[in-house]
Amino acid sequence: MRIILIGPPGAGKGTQARFLSERFHLPQISTGEMLRAAVRDGRRLGERAKPYMIKGELVPDGIILELVKKRIKLPDCQSGFLLDGFPRTVNQAKALRSSGIFIDYVIEIAVPDQEIIKRISGRWVHPASGRTYHVVYNPPKTPGLDDVSGEPLIQREDDREETVRKRLETYHLETEPLIRFYRDWENQGDPAAPRYIQINGMGTVEQVRERILTALGH
Ligand code: AP5
Repeated sequence: MRIILIGPPGAGKGTQARFLSERFHLPQISTGEMLRAAVRDGRRLGERAKPYMIKGELVPDGIILELVKKRIKLPDCQSGFLLDGFPRTVNQAKALRSSGIFIDYVIEIAVPDQEIIKRISGRWVHPASGRTYHVVYNPPKTPGLDDVSGEPLIQREDDREETVRKRLETYHLETEPLIRFYRDWENQGDPAAPRYIQINGMGTVEQVRERILTALGH
């Protein structure tokens, strides 16, 4: 199964992707995580991406496309994958389509802007694994520590309120047009078009998870 997850920053893509990837044995490919790892490791890719990320802007398509194309050629992607945070522009979606990679489902997690600010301001992450928590809605077993490794949790550099507002603006301007792109493609009746599913992202993590599973027929 090949799945694309889209939605505004902080909608819960990473949270649900982690669950879906375990449930369906799919590698989770998070472009945001890959970029953050490159920044942490001081790689050239990280140096190129960081100025955009800290401003809440999108990293140029050329950099992202190279990264994703390389990743999905690896053997673990042979029987499926879950793309979390890619594509994020119509240009990226068209590049994916023209590379002949068939996608089964595009799942949009829809959450209004005012909820996003609440979710992101309480988010803590385990940088090495990308595991995400929320102080109120999804707390770690021990405050401030990752459930699996016991290592300290941190707040992301791009989670400051003014950067989150910019990320939301970028989402509405550059990523939301993808919704129309995938809906139009499906409506044309092309058998290669993925099925578009919109999920109400309000409610608890478990409620959103159940809605996704129901929509996938599981
Ligand atoms: P990326 O890392 O992809 O960030 P994002 O899309 O802004 O998404 P987030 O990771 O912030 O949120 P999420 O939806 O995964 O939510 P989460 O599950 O953590 O990208 C970062 C940057 O990299 C971009 O700004 C851009 O610069 C660059 N980039 C990445 N991909 C790119 C691309 N393709 N092209 C160009 N540039 C790219 O949940 C958020 C919080 O809410 C957590 O605390 C969680 O515990 C909590 N939560 C989750 N679900 C619920 C719920 N149902 N109820 C209450 N709380 C919940």
